[in-house]
Amino acid sequence: MGMFKTTALAIAFSLGLGGGLAQAAGEAPEPPARNWSFNGFFGTFDRAAAQRGLQVYLEVCAACHSLNLVAYRNLSELGFNEDEVKAIAARYTVTDGPDDNGEMFERPAIPADHFVSPFPNEQAARAANGGAYPPDLSLVVKAREGGADYIYAFLTGFGEPPADMELQPGMNYNEYFPGHQVAMPNILMEGGVEFADGTPATVENQAADVTHFLAWAAEPELEARKQMGAKVILFLIIFTGMMYAVKRKVWSDLH
Ligand code: HEC
Repeated sequence: MGMFKTTALAIAFSLGLGGGLAQAAGEAPEPPARNWSFNGFFGTFDRAAAQRGLQVYLEVCAACHSLNLVAYRNLSELGFNEDEVKAIAARYTVTDGPDDNGEMFERPAIPADHFVSPFPNEQAARAANGGAYPPDLSLVVKAREGGADYIYAFLTGFGEPPADMELQPGMNYNEYFPGHQVAMPNILMEGGVEFADGTPATVENQAADVTHFLAWAAEPELEARKQMGAKVILFLIIFTGMMYAVKRKVWSDLH
C-alpha cells in the first residue's frame, strides 16, 4: 500500500512537473497535424514536392543554414539524374587541399561533396546572425518535437506580437517557437522563388515543400524501412498460414 502511494505520488508529481516545464517553455500551441505523403505505414516521399523543397532550401535557407549530413549525390534518391546532380553540385565552391605546394585551393563541388555550408564556422554564423546560431538542418525534422508538423508551423508562424509582448532587439515573433521570440527573420515571401513545375510559390507551399525536403534529409531510409516492415508482416501472415496447415496435417494423421 505504501509502495503504491509513493508510486502514485511520483506519477502525479512528474505529470505536474511536466506541465510546468511545458509552460515555462512559452506555451507554444501544438502544431496542427498535416497530411504528409510520408505519414503512415505505406507512406512515401513526394519527389516533386521534395525537389521543389530543395530549391527553396538552396535559394532561401542556405544563406544561413548548413545541411552537413547530405551529399549532392544523395539527391539522386529524389529523382535527379547524374547530370542534374553534377550541375547542382557545380554551382557551389568548396575549399580543398592542401595541394603539392601546401596551399589550400578552391574548386567546384562534385557529387561526392557534402552540401557546402554558408559559413566557415559557428562563430562566423553567429556573428552574421546577431549572436544566434542557425542550426544545421540535416536532422532538424527528427530533432524537434512535432517533427514535420512543427517545422511547417514554425515557418508559417511568424507575425505581429500580441500588444502586451515586448520583443527583444533583433528578435521576431513566432507563434510556434517556444517562448515566441526567435532570432530568425520571417524569410519566406509570397513568390520568393519560382517553381519550374508551375506550383504557385505561396508561403504555405514553400514551407510545406522545404519541410518535405528536410524530412527526407533527416530520414532518407524511411521508405526502405517501411517496405521492410511490410515484407516482415507479409512473411508473418504467410508463415502463420503455413503453420496452421502443418498443424492440421499433423493432427489429422494422429486421429
Ligand atoms: C537570415 C538567416 C536565416 C535564414 C535565411 C533562414 N534561417 Fe532559419 N534560423 C536562423 C537563425 C539565426 C535561427 C536560430 C534562431 C534562434 O535560436 O533564436 C534559425 C532557426 C531555424 C530553425 C530552428 C527552430 C527551432 O525550433 O529551434 C529552423 C527549423 C529553421 N531555422 C529553418 C529554416 C528554413 C527551412 C529556412 C528557409 C526557408 C530558414 N530557416 C532560413 C536564421 C535563418
